[in-house]
Amino acid sequence: MRPLIWKIQPPPFQKAGRRNTFHISADFALFVNNILEERDQGYNDVLKHHFFIFLSFRHILNADIDFLGRKSNPDSQTVELGPEFLDTITVQGREYHKYSIDHRTYFGPVDDEEAQRLDSQQQVFQRLFDDRLIFPPIQRLQRVLDCGHGAASWAVDVAEQYPDCEVTGIDIAPHMSPDDVPDNLWLQVDDLNRPFTFPSNHFDLVHSRLLATGIHRRRWPSYVRDILRVLKPGGWVQMVEIYYNVQSDNGAITDEHALRRWSTQYMRALEDRKDLRVGSKLQNYLTGLGLVEVDAKMIPLPLSGWSNG
Ligand SMILES: C[S@@+](CC[C@H](N)C(=O)[O-])C[C@H]1O[C@@H](n2cnc3c(N)ncnc32)[C@H](O)[C@@H]1O
Repeated sequence: MRPLIWKIQPPPFQKAGRRNTFHISADFALFVNNILEERDQGYNDVLKHHFFIFLSFRHILNADIDFLGRKSNPDSQTVELGPEFLDTITVQGREYHKYSIDHRTYFGPVDDEEAQRLDSQQQVFQRLFDDRLIFPPIQRLQRVLDCGHGAASWAVDVAEQYPDCEVTGIDIAPHMSPDDVPDNLWLQVDDLNRPFTFPSNHFDLVHSRLLATGIHRRRWPSYVRDILRVLKPGGWVQMVEIYYNVQSDNGAITDEHALRRWSTQYMRALEDRKDLRVGSKLQNYLTGLGLVEVDAKMIPLPLSGWSNG
């Protein structure tokens, strides 16, 4: 079986020349500023343009095996990280993960600016989710897996909030991993498009957020099956995906609007390889596998500026 690969050291990063190009993340950063600065205006005004977010949970009922109390060291299943995962390429002043680009796995930047954006985005999610990190009603959290941890924004918060819990984060790129992490957080490098190497019946909760642009279109059913396999009986999965079709309540976003043109072209550009509409299908994937207590919510997320009318 292919072993997990483990990040030993974050690679050195060149810091120059990253901020001079417009990128969609800049638009999102503007939105983050807006929502944080305008918070006192109330949400009525904010809900003009929005994204939809899907949450899905799932619970297996046949909890007749008890794994509580088993000790493990998440590093024990890993080997030293190969150098091919450390290379980056620079495109218009932004750093990208060469392995991900070469393998057409993931196309987002992996530089400091992106790490900051993901941290800001975590704050937005916390506001949007009423400060809840974890939605399922889990009594005792022993082991958590965060798929595609990015800057580990969610994983760090969980590790800090649950100091007795062992949190493992997986990402294909180690570049945005923070230098200082809580002692109960382990960050590892692996490709989620390949079969999981974790033991079965291992985690109480698996978290998967914003991976539509990373998981291959045809991988989703087996990805969800892999998540199920590594969950303990009675375990839960929490998934969040953005619905990329930008919409507005007041009709301000027409097909000609720049945001709509962006979202349409973005989905089209990736459609042969990625399913950017997967959020709306997760509930079916989960229930189709016979899971119970599946809950899905669509939450409007404000984006960009909004009208005064
Ligand atoms: C949009 S970011 C989301 C990060 C984090 N989940 C969050 O919500 O803040 C997507 C992350 O998934 C990682 N990723 C994409 N495809 C992946 C894959 N096939 N295997 C592992 N990680 C992947 C990327 O490197 C990136 O860090």
